[in-house]
Amino acid sequence: MLMEGILWRVNRAICTLMKAVKTLMKVLVTKQLPPEGMKILTASEVCEVCLWDTEGPRSEFLKGLQGAHGLLCLLSEKIDAEVLDAAGPNLKVISTFSVGYDHLAIDEIKKRGIRVGYTPDVLTDATAELTVALLLATARRLPEAVDEVKNGGWKSWRPLWMCGYGLSGSTVGVIGLGRIGTAIARRLMPFGVERVLYSGRNVKADAKEFNGELVPLDTLATESDFVVVSCALTPETQGLCNKSFFSKMKNTAIFINSSRGAVVNQEDLYEALSSGQIAAAGLDVTTPEPLPTDHPLLTLKNCVVLPHLGSATYSTRGVMASLAARNLLAGLEGMPMPKELTL
Ligand code: DGY
Repeated sequence: MLMEGILWRVNRAICTLMKAVKTLMKVLVTKQLPPEGMKILTASEVCEVCLWDTEGPRSEFLKGLQGAHGLLCLLSEKIDAEVLDAAGPNLKVISTFSVGYDHLAIDEIKKRGIRVGYTPDVLTDATAELTVALLLATARRLPEAVDEVKNGGWKSWRPLWMCGYGLSGSTVGVIGLGRIGTAIARRLMPFGVERVLYSGRNVKADAKEFNGELVPLDTLATESDFVVVSCALTPETQGLCNKSFFSKMKNTAIFINSSRGAVVNQEDLYEALSSGQIAAAGLDVTTPEPLPTDHPLLTLKNCVVLPHLGSATYSTRGVMASLAARNLLAGLEGMPMPKELTL
């Protein structure tokens, strides 16, 4: 407590001094943030904010980054050695407006002693909610049904027309029962789900709440009626859902991914969907993003693709912006960040 007080006073003194001599630290923000975040940054007395927010060439971005002390970036921006070199030795903090950090070259960042802030927890509810919405839309064929109403395909009420799959009595398999995976499972239970399976390295205490069973990935693929991907993208999970995985799934099973596109081999998924190996897929994430409009997956009626909307509620994006801004400022001032990634 005493130490924190002293640190705080030392930092205030540094800030006042910097303001007086006008040596503000340079911060590059790559896209316009919700006002909750921009207000915090522009009110700060330690930094000068440069807003990038253009679709200009990467070379211009790299030039704009020169000499920056802080970088606030999005999940869609690869922060690699080239970017770090362009920023130069001043760069001391990167704050990403995301919980995922697979776009950051962590080894390079660590080597250069740069601190990283991110936004876990605050987007868990929004992302879990979106995943459940995507699962229901895919399983009950909502986008296809809406199209039928509009294109005249709705002729009469027929017993088997537009039938899909329900959650009641089903088995749900979650790949990666972390914060978001757990929140998804919790939300699915009231629909009458009978079993929740999950894969991963170890037993999760929170899984007790819904009698979640830790099983090998193959068992999850074979026994689940709904497979939900909610793991981080790492070298181990890259391409995890491939031909072999899909070949073990039930023909009536639904595949949902709201983590990262690269966890899935999309050619294998296309094959599994078009051959009837699995019933349908709902993807909030793809490779690449945006998915080209002529991509084969978009020709399939049994594939629902969303444009990476997991955390997209106004309030969640506002809280993420505020957290990302506070992480950045704390990093610049050498203070503990509200949410710092352990490197
Ligand atoms: C993140 O923040 O990493 C999520 O993908 C946002 O939806």
